[in-house]
Order: sequence, then C-alpha cells, then structure tokens
Amino acid sequence: MKSIPLQSRLPRTLRIAQVRKETDMVTTFMLPISLGSLPGQFLMLWLPGRDEIPMSIALDDGENLQVTFFAVGDMTQALAKLKAGDLVGIRGPFGTSYAWEKKQHLALVAGGYGAAPMFFAASKAAQDGCTLDVIIGARSREHLLYQQSFASLPRTTVHIATDDGSEGHKGYNVTVLAELLSSGVKFDQIFACGPERMLVAVSDLAAKEGTKCLLSLERYMKCGYGLCGNCTVDPLGIRLCTEGPVVEGSLARQIAEFGKYHRDELGRKHPF
Ligand SMILES: Cc1cc2nc3c(=O)[nH]c(=O)nc-3n(C[C@H](O)[C@H](O)[C@H](O)COP(=O)(O)OP(=O)(O)OC[C@H]3O[C@@H](n4cnc5c(N)ncnc54)[C@H](O)[C@@H]3O)c2cc1C
Ligand code: FES
Repeated sequence: MKSIPLQSRLPRTLRIAQVRKETDMVTTFMLPISLGSLPGQFLMLWLPGRDEIPMSIALDDGENLQVTFFAVGDMTQALAKLKAGDLVGIRGPFGTSYAWEKKQHLALVAGGYGAAPMFFAASKAAQDGCTLDVIIGARSREHLLYQQSFASLPRTTVHIATDDGSEGHKGYNVTVLAELLSSGVKFDQIFACGPERMLVAVSDLAAKEGTKCLLSLERYMKCGYGLCGNCTVDPLGIRLCTEGPVVEGSLARQIAEFGKYHRDELGRKHPF
C-alpha cells in the first residue's frame, strides 16, 4: 500500500468557488484547489456539524477541482443547499486510479454520477492521444450527465442509453457496449463507473472478450486511508479505500459480495 501523506489525511477547509446545477438532483461544486489527483481517486467531503462522505473527483486540472453529487440523503441534500462562498472541508486524494497507455482505444461506461469520474479519465486520456467510445446511461435524457463535456473531447464518440428511450438506445448502456464488441470493435481496455450490477455486467463482457477492464467499486468509507477497516470486502479482506476504489475486473470477480451486497456503517449486509 502506498503511504498517504499527512497533508492528505488532515482536513482542509475552503470556500466553494462555483456551484453548478446539473439536474434537479445533481450538483457540481468547483473548489479552488488542486490535489494533484488522478482519475478514479476520491476525496472525503466534510460539512462541519453534519457528516463527511466519500466523493469521486470529477476533475482536477491543476488549479481547480470538481465533484458532482446526487442529493440522495441528509448529507448530500445539505450539500445541495450550499452556495458559492460557503465553506466545506476536504481530505484526500485517496485510492487507486484508472491508467492507460498513450493512443489506446478505450471504452468508458458510465452510469449515474459515474459519468463525473469517467469524464476526468476521458479528459486526461484524450490528452494522451487515446480514442474513446463513451457510453453514458441514465433513467431518461434529463438525467444524462457530462454529455456535452464528453462530446467536446477529441477522438471521442459518445453513445447514449436511457431506460425510457428518451435519448439514444432504449435500455442499458452495457447493451451498447455488447453491440460494439459484437460488431468487431476491439478495445485495449474498458473502464466503468456506476451501479454495481452494471459493473458486474461490464466485467462479464470484458472477461468473455479477454479485454482488461478497470471498475470503480464503492463501499462505506470513514477514514479513507486504510485505518478503520470499514470498507473491507469478503472474502479477500482488501480495503477498497486503498486497494480500490478502482480495481481490475479479474480482482472484482474474486470478491464474493461483488454485485450482491454491501455493508453499512455498522457492518450490516444490504443486498444490491
Ligand atoms: C469511493 C466513493 C466515491 C463516491 N463518489 C460519489 C460521487 O461522485 N457522487 C455522489 O453523488 N456520490 C458518490 N458516492 C456515494 C456517496 O458517498 C453517498 O451517496 C453519500 O455518502 C450519500 O450520503 P447521504 O448522507 O446524502 O445519504 P444517506 O441517506 O446517508 O446514504 C445513502 C446511501 O449512500 C451510501 N453512503 C452513505 N454514507 C456513506 C459513506 N460514508 N461511504 C460510502 N457510502 C455511503 C449508503 O449506501 C447509503 O445507503 C461515492 C461513494 C464512494 C464510496
Ligand atoms: S474507509 Fe477506513 S479502511 Fe477504508
């Protein structure tokens, strides 16, 4: 395990530079800091007096950092009420990242807020001359995230899948990936971030094709750097805050709970 510098483990408070409403439920914060983060890494976002939660880094361009979140519960709904100039705390960056070689052909499969970290990976891979097929999935067209941002990248084809067919393919983004693969497109790697059952389907396809895939797995996280053991997974006992969140598909497939269940803050199992 790579040692995490003290500076990353301690919270820093800073004022939100900009708030962008992506959809009714989804907000992006621009923070005036660079953590030197890599695509796939996460930070712990702290709202004093409320909670601290893990959040994927949606962009770190050397000057500013972005996070994009769904307002699903107490903490994220409180965050969604914040305005530019309000204070938040951050710790990080933590965890493993997506990696590629120059000029590779990559498929990026994004579900829900997974589009945010996938955009960070896409923007960096595009700078390295990679060719990208990005497949974004959402319930309906109003819930699609980062569509224009992906479309602005060079050598990038954006494919859309919506559950209700309001844009692109009607159905799952993984079906679009399966169609690309069966039409003979060869990818050097497949990256995916989104709901865990989507990740299982991506890893099944990648294993069948013999293509390397990197998946972002989420578990309940408290410390973020390997101390508390909250994010360990059965039966390997690896901590997903340090050995993940980005793991190879072959490793994910050894995790008995992959796509089946996760544990809450008290260690109780919850099925997906
Ligand atoms: C590595 C990682 C990256 C993430 N990136 C994003 C992101 O970019 N955008 C985004 O919207 N969400 C992200 N999440 C999920 C986000 O942390 C939870 O949705 C959030 O914590 C919900 O908090 P809440 O209090 O609003 O909701 P709650 O109602 O308290 O929780 C809703 C669900 O969120 C999960 N959750 C709550 N607290 C935690 C925690 N400390 N660790 C992990 N899961 C938790 C639980 O499964 C819970 O059932 C990420 C989670 C992880 C582990
Ligand atoms: S969150 Fe504490 S060990 Fe992973």
